[in-house]
Amino acid sequence: MKKILVTGGCGYIGAHTILDLIENGYDPICVDNNSRSTTALLEGIKSITGNSVKNYKVDLCNFDDTYAIFQENIGIEGIIHFAAYKAVGESVENPLMYFENNLESLINILKCALEFNIPNFIFSSSCTVYGSPDEILVTEKSPLKPGESPYGITKQMGEEIVREVTKKGETQSILLRYFNPVGAHPTALIGELPLGKPQNLVPAITQTAIGIIPQFMVYGDDYPTRDGSSIRDYIHVCDIAHAHILALEYLAKRKNTTPCDVFNLGTGNGITVLEVIKSFEKVSGVKLDYKIGPRRPGDIVSIYANNSLAKEKLNWEPKYSLDEMMSSAWKWELKLKDDAALHNNLNFQMN
Ligand code: WQD
Repeated sequence: MKKILVTGGCGYIGAHTILDLIENGYDPICVDNNSRSTTALLEGIKSITGNSVKNYKVDLCNFDDTYAIFQENIGIEGIIHFAAYKAVGESVENPLMYFENNLESLINILKCALEFNIPNFIFSSSCTVYGSPDEILVTEKSPLKPGESPYGITKQMGEEIVREVTKKGETQSILLRYFNPVGAHPTALIGELPLGKPQNLVPAITQTAIGIIPQFMVYGDDYPTRDGSSIRDYIHVCDIAHAHILALEYLAKRKNTTPCDVFNLGTGNGITVLEVIKSFEKVSGVKLDYKIGPRRPGDIVSIYANNSLAKEKLNWEPKYSLDEMMSSAWKWELKLKDDAALHNNLNFQMN
């Protein structure tokens, strides 16, 4: 079976992608330093598939430890690189930690990819690379505005590094720009495990609804949008995960038109924060206790994807509706409540 190295595989999108890889006949190998995760999601994958994923607890900033993984696993056919810090606010507080971690780990994994002639490299990028776009419906050709945070800048720099390093030679690459990944696997056996108070919209909603967060705050309703709250392109994490399998197949068959093709992964629908809340209330039957607060510094008004290139080239089609995104997120939150052990484990991590 085709060995695929998944860095950050214990994380939210990484774990959903590992599951999809297994279901599509691949042999995923996980590497994760668990600085922002536990192995709980690998256990969830085992309960879904029966597979124990080979997992290395290694910090990719340690080159020798990273190199040893490749020596031990000859014949890796692809790398999917998720591992990175991704909290916008934290990156503003501690920019050097973000530059060091996100770029050094990327450089080390790329060094190994070239040294071991790994043919396929997929880089986990983000719509954040567009900054605050002039046109809110962005295509892959939309100009990249200045990064809105050190996190966003590490994604912009990461894309440039991957593009330059895979310009020639054996290793070719794909950049996948995720819009806003939300939801959980329909089994509710894997999902998002935010450490500490969630910064992102959907876990903040579900943790409010279940009583962990006392009241949800809408960050601003004075934006120039249809209801005053900001607009994003929410996309189910399983749709994001499956795009990685399609991207691997596309790259392995050398269908790519350049050594480093780029794809937007969004539904193409711009949804406001208040519309997300309405959808959540509808599918959960829970009235969300929220108030309107001030805008969050660094937030942009609106962005959503023109996803026609991924549809055409990768034959990718997002399947999940907004209601299904919200119901799967709620089902997962309810599961977490039942699985106190998992929560206690996370609480332990937080203190
Ligand atoms: C979405 C909307 C908030 C929380 C960032 C990164 C992106 C990706 C996802 C990593 C915004 C509003 C949120 C809350 C709110 N990160 N909101 N109350 O900022 O669009 O994207 O996270 O992969 O790269 O840039 O996502 O979920 O934080 O916010 O009103 O308690 O929800 O203002 O408009 P964002 P988000």
